[in-house]
Amino acid sequence: MSVRRLAEKHLQPESFAFTPENVAWAKQQIAKYPEGRQASAVIPLLMRAQEQGGGWLSEPAMRVVGEMLDMPPIRIYEVATFYTQFQLQPVGRKAHIQVCGTTPCMLRGAEALIKVCKHRINEHQFHLSADGDFSWEEVECAGACVNAPMVQVVKDVYEDLTPEALEKIIDALARGEKPKTGPQIGRRSSEPVTGERTLTDPALFDGSMIGKGAGLAAAREAIAARAAAEQTPKPAEPAAAAPSGKAKSD
Ligand code: FES
Repeated sequence: MSVRRLAEKHLQPESFAFTPENVAWAKQQIAKYPEGRQASAVIPLLMRAQEQGGGWLSEPAMRVVGEMLDMPPIRIYEVATFYTQFQLQPVGRKAHIQVCGTTPCMLRGAEALIKVCKHRINEHQFHLSADGDFSWEEVECAGACVNAPMVQVVKDVYEDLTPEALEKIIDALARGEKPKTGPQIGRRSSEPVTGERTLTDPALFDGSMIGKGAGLAAAREAIAARAAAEQTPKPAEPAAAAPSGKAKSD
C-alpha cells in the first residue's frame, strides 16, 4: 500500500463546483438517508466529484462535498485517503491503469504487466506518461482473483491478461476506443478455462420446465432421463448398399 497524500498545492485547482446535473444527482443521493445521517452519502458524492474532476479528487472538491454533507474537511480527507478508488493526484487523461499486485495475480504474471506499464507509461507509478494520456499504479486485490492477472480502469476490468493483451488494451485506449472488458482469453466470466463442466443442461435455464409440476424434483428427473437417453447406444446404421456393377477381381 502506497502512502496516500493530497496532491501538492501547485497541482490543486483554485476551486470546484458540481455541474447543475451533478448537484441534482447529489441531492437525490443525500435524500436516501435519514435526517442527521447525510454523511452516509460521502462515498458516492466523492466518486462523482472525482469523475467530474478528470479522474482525480482535488482538495477543493473534497471541501465542496464536506459542505454539502455538513462534514468538517478532516472527515472527508480521512475517507478520501483511506480508499484507493479515490485518486489524489492528477491521472492520465485517457486512462489510469490499476494493476493488481496481490498474491494470485502476482503468481499469474502481474509483474510482467507492471513491466508493460513502466515501459509504456512511466517508470514510476502515479506519474503521467510523456503525453499526459496515461498513468498507472499497483493496487491490492480487486476481487477478480479467479481471472488473474488483471487490471482495472475506472469501473472496467480486464482479466486473464498477458503482457501482449495489456499492450493491445493500452493501444486501443490511446486511440480513444473502449476495449472489450472482462476475460481476454475467450472464456465467459469466471467459468473454468476448460469450458463449462456443471449446470450444462439447457433445461435448467430455457424455461422448458415451467409448469411441469414438482419444481426441482421434476427438473432433476427430466435431466436424469435426458442423460440416460444420451448414454443409450443408438441402433447401428444399416450398411451402405454395395455399388452396382461387377466387383473388380484380382
Ligand atoms: S489477487 Fe488480483 S484480483 Fe485478487
